[in-house]
Amino acid sequence: MAPSVFAPNLLAGKSALVTGGGSGIGAGIARLFAQHGAKVALVGRTAQKLEATAAAITASGGVATVHPCDVRDFPALEKAFDDAASANGGLDVLVNSAAGNFLAPAATLSANGFRAVVDIDLCGTFNACRAAFAHLSKRGGSIVSITATQADVPTPLQCHAGAAKAGIAKLTRDLALEWGKLGIRVMAVAPGPIEDTEGMSRLAPGDAADKLKSRVPLGRYGTIDEIAGATLFLVSPAGAYVTGATLLMDGGTSLLGPGPFLEMMGG
Ligand code: HXC
Ligand code: NAP
Repeated sequence: MAPSVFAPNLLAGKSALVTGGGSGIGAGIARLFAQHGAKVALVGRTAQKLEATAAAITASGGVATVHPCDVRDFPALEKAFDDAASANGGLDVLVNSAAGNFLAPAATLSANGFRAVVDIDLCGTFNACRAAFAHLSKRGGSIVSITATQADVPTPLQCHAGAAKAGIAKLTRDLALEWGKLGIRVMAVAPGPIEDTEGMSRLAPGDAADKLKSRVPLGRYGTIDEIAGATLFLVSPAGAYVTGATLLMDGGTSLLGPGPFLEMMGG
């Protein structure tokens, strides 16, 4: 991991829960939060992935608990939040990183395929925010959801994920408005293409990745550590006057509209 540009222990004494914390961007956020002193609770469906991330955190001197469950299952998620809050002394921060995605043309995508992605990404994010509310409303706190540039930029083969992420961006603003007076800040980070992730291995496999990278204005994919650093900024005291905002971190990719994705897919 690259050295942190932040002062140490920005989250000392804090408790955080990360959905999708067993892999990729969510795991990177959990690792950075733990490095900054937070106790982290990891949610995802696959216990082994959560345990591997938790083991890496504890091996580095951090504290991590695992809570395997599906974000589409609200009662199970509520229990995960209760267990995490009991274990870690309440809850201060929620990060929504759980998501599902695949490339599929709208013309052949099944109704169930569309619903599966919206259920995980959008309804799962609402479920987690709703389950977190009981804890965050006790002493204030913050929520960051990981959206995507596809929420705004029309992108081929991505109508399901793009619609779900656009919904999360709107939910972010609505919850920020409703919960601000309770001291709960609600924000999002919208990454562009990120290196070494399941997301990009699905969206731009093999040679397609080189094509896409050559079109990114900054000339490269972003890193998991960069997204984790942005998320840390938002939940830290440095971000204390931010709410309702989505922080775009895409190396300038969305400045080009759908062009890079159309070229990558030969469209
Ligand atoms: C078309 C597909 C499909 C595919 C699944 N389906 N994969 N349709 N092309 N490649 C359809 C199935 O046929 C089924 O519809 C419906 O989706 C539900 O499939 P299940 O396998 O039953 O769903 P489930 O087990 O809930 O799994 C959800 C999943 C899966 C999204 C399909 O891929 C998953 O669990 N992904 C989690 C990991 C992941 O995707 N990580 C990347 C996130 S990256 P029918 O009609 O047959 O019943 C990311 C990038 C962001 O989000 C940038 C873009 C916004
Ligand atoms: P990833 O490693 O697949 O992360 C997604 C995580 O969500 C997995 O750990 C997965 O674990 C979990 N998850 C999926 N469905 C779930 C469910 N129903 N309930 C609970 N957990 C579930 O992919 P990633 O690329 O790092 O993506 C992380 C986030 O960044 C996502 O929100 C994605 O949309 C966003 N994003 C990624 C990119 C990119 O370039 N990679 C770009 C823009 C946005 P299980 O399968 O074990 O449950």
